[in-house]
Amino acid sequence: MKMLRKLFWTVLQGFVLLPTIAIRDSNIVNRKMADVPQFEKPIGNQTFHIGREAVLGCSIDNLGKHKVGWLRAEDQTVLSLHERVVLGPRYSVNLDSPSTWQLRIRPLRAEDRGCYMCQINTQPSMKWQIGCIDVYVPPDIINEETSTDVSAQELDNVTLSCKATGHPPPKITWRREDHEQMLLKKIGGRDFYKVESYVGSSLPLYRVDRRQMGAFLCIASNDVPPAVSKRIILNVNFPPTVIVPNQLLGAPLGTDVVLECTVEAYPNTINYWLKNRGEMLLDGPKYVIGEDRSSYKVLMKLTIKQFSKHDIGTYNCVSTNSLGKSEGTLRLYEIKLYPSSQSAAEVNVGGLTEGAVKQNPAFSDSNKVFSRTFLIFLLVTVAVVERETM
Ligand SMILES: *[C@@H]1O[C@H](CO)[C@@H](O)[C@H](O)[C@H]1NC(C)=O
Ligand SMILES: *[C@@H]1O[C@H](CO)[C@@H](O)[C@H](O)[C@H]1NC(C)=O
Repeated sequence: MKMLRKLFWTVLQGFVLLPTIAIRDSNIVNRKMADVPQFEKPIGNQTFHIGREAVLGCSIDNLGKHKVGWLRAEDQTVLSLHERVVLGPRYSVNLDSPSTWQLRIRPLRAEDRGCYMCQINTQPSMKWQIGCIDVYVPPDIINEETSTDVSAQELDNVTLSCKATGHPPPKITWRREDHEQMLLKKIGGRDFYKVESYVGSSLPLYRVDRRQMGAFLCIASNDVPPAVSKRIILNVNFPPTVIVPNQLLGAPLGTDVVLECTVEAYPNTINYWLKNRGEMLLDGPKYVIGEDRSSYKVLMKLTIKQFSKHDIGTYNCVSTNSLGKSEGTLRLYEIKLYPSSQSAAEVNVGGLTEGAVKQNPAFSDSNKVFSRTFLIFLLVTVAVVERETM
């Protein structure tokens, strides 16, 4: 019974398989196993840098008498047939032992980006597989679409632009060349905020401020070195403003007195000193005139040698540029070295003399005496005023 069933199944299987076996030519079956070429592995997708060499490998088993061709997939342009290059000197083919057919492209151009087909001339239909290459291109700044140096009036809206080519598309980063933080303001905003850098192809500077003046770098970078940068200078024009730290200066006769004004302006100013609203002072044995410049700030310094009664009076520091003119006023008084009850009132002025007295350390002690006298004077005055109001 058991044997009978087994026989039945064998016969049934034989019937089922018979038609298939019948139409198969045993020769073809053998060839398929032994002679028909097969791709060993995919070509794969790869990335190469422009100017270098791209290598694509097509690994084939059992190539036999068949031939291998490489084509550009996009337009089916034949690049090579077996060991022969069909197109151009930038292409080459070689057999990498024992069975990998390599297509090499060198030097690589951006337009080589795309897919490539490895074909075997099997019959009746070709066998083929595809692999793609991406060509990386380092960033390059497009000068025509990038800002040149900019000159703006203070409170103007300014936008600095920077465009770059490259693949993958480059990132544009802005920062100050001096590595200081950048001051930025939201459109319509009032307050500045500070950032190390800003990312974007446009750098909006809303209502530009003098403190934003300077050299900016737009840096274009992608995964391909080197990153490139362009330097853009932003100048912010505004008329001079003069600040006088000490408007009233007292000094003892015989000392050297230093008068100072701070000027802010751009473009650069022409600065000078006037005495009693008339005479322009010139550098020489009596006056030493100096300037310390840093960006848009100028510290104007006038040193009066051997302060005498003739030097008492009004001094003006005057600053002009193409956008305007501004001046500061200083008054110079004499401080009597040995205060009497009367001179205490004069010391009222001496209280503001720091700048002038600094020049000669010998007087700093007497200055303290003056200040103390002045304080007593002040307290007495306050006491008197208080009594009167009561
Ligand atoms: C290779 O790249 C092509 C085109 O970019 C894409 O269609 C394909 O899916 C990629 N193949 C692999 C294996 O990533
Ligand atoms: C700056 O931009 C703001 C907002 O767009 C605008 O209201 C203002 O008039 C602009 N200022 C100048 C000087 O163009």
